[in-house]
Amino acid sequence: MALSENEQLAPPRHIAIIMDGNGRWAKQRGLPRTAGHAAGAEAFRRIANYCRTLGVEYLTVYAFSTENWKRSQEEVEGIMRLLRRYLDEALRDMEKNRVRFRFFGDLSRLSPQLQKLCADAESRSEEYDVQVNFCLNYGGRDELVHAAKAFASDVAAGIHKAEDLTEELMASYLYSKDVPDPELIIRPSGEMRTSNFLLWQSAYSEYVIMNVLWPDFSPEHLDEAIAQFHRRNRRFGGV
Ligand code: FPP
Repeated sequence: MALSENEQLAPPRHIAIIMDGNGRWAKQRGLPRTAGHAAGAEAFRRIANYCRTLGVEYLTVYAFSTENWKRSQEEVEGIMRLLRRYLDEALRDMEKNRVRFRFFGDLSRLSPQLQKLCADAESRSEEYDVQVNFCLNYGGRDELVHAAKAFASDVAAGIHKAEDLTEELMASYLYSKDVPDPELIIRPSGEMRTSNFLLWQSAYSEYVIMNVLWPDFSPEHLDEAIAQFHRRNRRFGGV
């Protein structure tokens, strides 16, 4: 039997996803927006498992942006509840699943309970290889400001000189320190915006925009995104 395109070609090492369309999915069904996020959390579980099966090494998801605080208190609390529930389960099943967790974003604005779950998930999974990065209270601009402040403070402390700054050193101040840049960024729900996601890291990423709402995203959609990625001719500014 002929191998499919994805069986012949290795998947990208790092896939990042903007989990968009939960609200519209709920609206289409006459459900509250939080029901859309609950279905989105299920889609995340499904796709994270499938990425592991495919051998994807890093999966980064945009779970809550610096702008998402503008939503109603009910919706914000609903998303936070889903995250707490997921991390509780992840901590319980840590040895079985062997997934490494990292969190990109300014976690200080999250509840102490959620901050503790994030810290525990990160420290207890340090030795595992397959990695999930949750972007939480994350913004690409905020990440760059945070990095610039940290570098400036190291310059003031005499650890670096301003002229030492290179792209590599800059990258080491980002939340994504030590994580390779994503080769593929998927945005479901048809929107054509970066929405402040991984501004530095996406310099050479291939964007695949798909007309499916995130709660409906299936392994077949991921196969399709990977197939589109392989059809692109990545030149990194060369010819
Ligand atoms: C964007 O869709 C989605 C979010 C702002 C929240 C994403 C959060 C989750 C999927 C749940 C997190 C929990 C886990 C365990 C991953 P939108 O609400 O902007 O959709 P819309 O554009 O259709 O309104």
